[in-house]
Amino acid sequence: MCGIVGFTGPVGGVDALDVVMEGLRRMEYRGYDSAGIVVQADGALHTRKKAGKLANLDEALSLDPLPLGVTGVGHTRWATHGGPTDANAHPHCSADGRLAVVHNGIIENYASLRAQLTDQGVVFLSETDTEVAAHLIGRAYDELGDLTEAMRVVCHQLQGAFTLLAVHADAPGTVVGARRNSPLVVGRGEGANYLGSDVAAFIEHTRDAIELGQDQVVTITAESIDVIDFAGAPAVTKEYHVDWDASAAEKGGYPTFMAKEIDEQPRAVADTLLGRTNAAGHLVLDELRIDESVLRAVDKIVVIACGTASYAGQVAKYAIEHWCRVPTEVELASEFRYRDPVVDEKTLVVAISQSGETMDTLMAVRHAREQGAKVIAICNTHGSTIPREADAVLYTHAGPEVAVASTKSFLTQITACYLLGLYLAQLRGNKYEDEVRDILAQLARIPAQIQRVLDSMGLVRALARQMADARVVLFLGRHVGFPVAMEGALKLKELAYIHAEGFAAGELKHGPIALIEQGLPVFVVVPSPRGRDSLHSKVVSNIQEIRARGARTIVIAEEGDDDVRPYADTLIQVPRTPTLLAPLVTTVPLQVFACELALAKGHDVDQPRNLAKSVTVE
Ligand code: F6R
Repeated sequence: MCGIVGFTGPVGGVDALDVVMEGLRRMEYRGYDSAGIVVQADGALHTRKKAGKLANLDEALSLDPLPLGVTGVGHTRWATHGGPTDANAHPHCSADGRLAVVHNGIIENYASLRAQLTDQGVVFLSETDTEVAAHLIGRAYDELGDLTEAMRVVCHQLQGAFTLLAVHADAPGTVVGARRNSPLVVGRGEGANYLGSDVAAFIEHTRDAIELGQDQVVTITAESIDVIDFAGAPAVTKEYHVDWDASAAEKGGYPTFMAKEIDEQPRAVADTLLGRTNAAGHLVLDELRIDESVLRAVDKIVVIACGTASYAGQVAKYAIEHWCRVPTEVELASEFRYRDPVVDEKTLVVAISQSGETMDTLMAVRHAREQGAKVIAICNTHGSTIPREADAVLYTHAGPEVAVASTKSFLTQITACYLLGLYLAQLRGNKYEDEVRDILAQLARIPAQIQRVLDSMGLVRALARQMADARVVLFLGRHVGFPVAMEGALKLKELAYIHAEGFAAGELKHGPIALIEQGLPVFVVVPSPRGRDSLHSKVVSNIQEIRARGARTIVIAEEGDDDVRPYADTLIQVPRTPTLLAPLVTTVPLQVFACELALAKGHDVDQPRNLAKSVTVE
């Protein structure tokens, strides 16, 4: 996730370059693939930006130093629109170079704004959505002569999620910021003020912070902080004192990256859904540069992935087959090329990988392409190898995942799979546009539902602490609940080092039921009774069967499902969702359970033993 720093101090005070670079270093933990800085000095703006790590920017600055200045803005970029190159790195400038902008988030309507500006003769120097904001704010400033007003007016034109900071050569000592659905905090210093994506950006200088509300614009000078809303009225803000140490600040005050990443899931899913529709509300996946006729001719889809990503693929299979009526297989990438798979020009291969570097998946992609298949990558990391080698890519917008075990990647991979399934269904005529729009509207409600699950996790945490001594835990699910059960088991293995297995509930009677003994904890992910009633009642029977044999049943069911109540030793309720979308909410209690249980056992949940974040060997 991008990191943003803004600083302005008194004339003759500390060099803005030092403060901004230090802030960027403190935010390195957020992950980034390029960085840049702008400093105001001598009535002009001076920028340096470089792809890669901050060391590259340091080198550029030492080769070509910036003049001393007391006002500056910096940015670490996690690529979304356009790869991680020098040109795409922030800041971006207006045509006359007098205004510079850095940005975190996604400007959903950037394509139409860019087209309008291009028609008016604006030449773009990057592939980013941000550059649109730079030109618009620059032009607004020329008209209004006031940076705060220019920012406020332009924010009305932007859709999506954004934090923007702007400086103008003609407004010395001033930094203006704005936020919508993306974080921005203000640091109140003594004779100097700060802006940051989070308090880590300025914690070395001040612990007095102001949280900006939604749709607010802030203007800082060395002596003042003024906040207004997008309508221009003075805004109410919340001041607080930060008492975290610097390392906790990097985790946004959370004890672990994993806890933070689990909590970020509503935002991550919402961001993955952003910018996928055109002005008429139709689903458009501009990134998929595969000819529509090729996608129409596809007669088989094969999803290849490893671990958690493969469970996202399992969910995709249910959705894609139901929506598109195309046979869909899910194959572990490590097995794919060794079994001589039947793949040809009419096969669409979907490779899911958070890192984009997993060697098993990469090898499977190469094999599929050699057989003539088209490959779409679903990936979270711009510029990584798998999207580079695939024919097309659909990026998840989870932001960097630091904890080794996947959490927010899983939910965003599932979300991207839904988008792909709906797009294919629309393109191939299996669903009308209004049907697709209805499902998109249901998906848009999911982030708030995930938030409700997160807000009600007290019971799950208490259960996890009670169960810290468990030696074996089983997970059962059916339909889309089956991959959720497997993911729940994988999380528990990885984080708590407990033997855990996920089964399809219907398979229970074919063997695994022999494992059930007195007190054995069994999680059951129950399908909605509003989906296939017979499926629901079969799972309820499964719960009765295992309970009759002594299992301790922990049941995840939707609110209002009273049939399960008599058989649940613990009932975890989740909001009602359409059947196929349920994994986005039912997975969350299992992540929280595994994380909490592992913490109760004293484990390092961010770096479990023996595991690596990117598995770059076969
Ligand atoms: C589990 C986990 C792994 C990854 C797998 C694939 O928590 O993180 O199972 O899902 O190694 O990694 P990517 O998605 O980077 O290809």
